[in-house]
Amino acid sequence: MEQTFFMIKPDGTRRNLVGEIISRIEKKGLEIKAMKMMQISNRLAKKHYAEHIDKPFFSDLKEFITSGPVVAMVVEGPGAIKIVRRMMGQTDPAESTPGSIRGDYALSIDRNVVHGSDSPESAEREIDLFFSEDEII
Ligand code: CMP
Repeated sequence: MEQTFFMIKPDGTRRNLVGEIISRIEKKGLEIKAMKMMQISNRLAKKHYAEHIDKPFFSDLKEFITSGPVVAMVVEGPGAIKIVRRMMGQTDPAESTPGSIRGDYALSIDRNVVHGSDSPESAEREIDLFFSEDEII
């Protein structure tokens, strides 16, 4: 069984998309092994998005991701990392097909509603950043 880190970003919570997005994960048959609503600190934002720290969009990204509550999850299932990435659609919603979360609910790359780990290494790192072992059921 594979686990991935999945997060509904501040634009998703602000727009009341939490139930709709969680429902898609559940209906797909994936299992939610941990979940919490939280506000990301600057420190956690820098750790989570460490690979983007030198990118020109980083300061906007940090401001946005810390701007309101997120819903962080550990999602489990066979091939969960790839399946969740496909359910999310492309990073740029303009490239995301209708039927995907970003294809249905997002318009711009910097407000793209959800985040999901892109590899087993990122999944392990991100789950570890957001959850302690005893929070994962
Ligand atoms: P996410 O999957 O959370 O990973 C990094 C985020 O940076 C990405 O989604 C986008 O929301 C955000 N971002 C903002 N601007 C850009 C950009 N020009 N290219 C890639 N990602 C961007």
